Amino acid sequence: VYLVGAGPGDPELMTVRGATLLARADVVIYDRLIAHSLLDLAPPSAERIDVGKRPGRPTRQSEINALLVEHGGLGHEVVRLKGGDPFLFGRGGEEAEALRAAGIPYEVVPGVTSAFAAPAAAGIPVTHRGLAADFAVVSGHRDPERAEAGWNWAELAVGPATLVLLMGMDNLAEITAELIRHGRPADTPAAVIQSATLPGQRVLRAPLGGLAARSGAAGLTAPAVVVIGAVAALGAEPVPS
Ligand SMILES: C[S@@+](CC[C@H](N)C(=O)[O-])C[C@H]1O[C@@H](n2cnc3c(N)ncnc32)[C@H](O)[C@@H]1O
Repeated sequence: VYLVGAGPGDPELMTVRGATLLARADVVIYDRLIAHSLLDLAPPSAERIDVGKRPGRPTRQSEINALLVEHGGLGHEVVRLKGGDPFLFGRGGEEAEALRAAGIPYEVVPGVTSAFAAPAAAGIPVTHRGLAADFAVVSGHRDPERAEAGWNWAELAVGPATLVLLMGMDNLAEITAELIRHGRPADTPAAVIQSATLPGQRVLRAPLGGLAARSGAAGLTAPAVVVIGAVAALGAEPVPS
């Protein structure tokens, strides 16, 4: 079983290794956010299984794990195609654990994560000499029933120079307010990149203090990556003087 990162959206951004494995797959088990044209790389005879989680049709992670173990156990070459990188907020770690526990051989094929690709698509480097020497990638969605619930605002606000927020659109007002409350200046440059690397890509830049209101007014929605920090001012269109 191969846990393959499909990249951030543009099908050209999947790795060569991923494409090679797809071309000989017996079974492709894929997520909602992957470019569907990638499925054409698999042989016509390959079984294609959509396990995308979406409102009203949730697929439980345990069911996905069971599918991987079932097909892997039958000796099929299985490509588990996941958005971005399989190990970044993609539950790929759980899938790997399930395969290991079942004694099924697997390989992880890293992918181009939206955490870097979305800023890059807007011309924003997550580190930049003199501006940002470190960054944190943060999930904007927390499950209150889980042990890791809650953010360490005090650390996030003043720690890493750049914050990259995934799954942050629903809680954007709360997240930006907490960061400011804990010491990140309200005039810190910030940007929202929606549908990065896809034809519908949209980029909005605003100071942290106005980001949630501006992005709400512009109708920006998931999937989007939010970048907060001095680097978010880079890559903008040059302003005519
Ligand atoms: C469940 S996480 C999976 C992340 C994925 N494993 C990765 O490495 O990119 C889904 C989140 O990734 C971000 N995302 C994925 N694709 C994106 C894209 N093309 N443009 C902007 N954000 C994207 C959004 O924040 C979205 O809510």
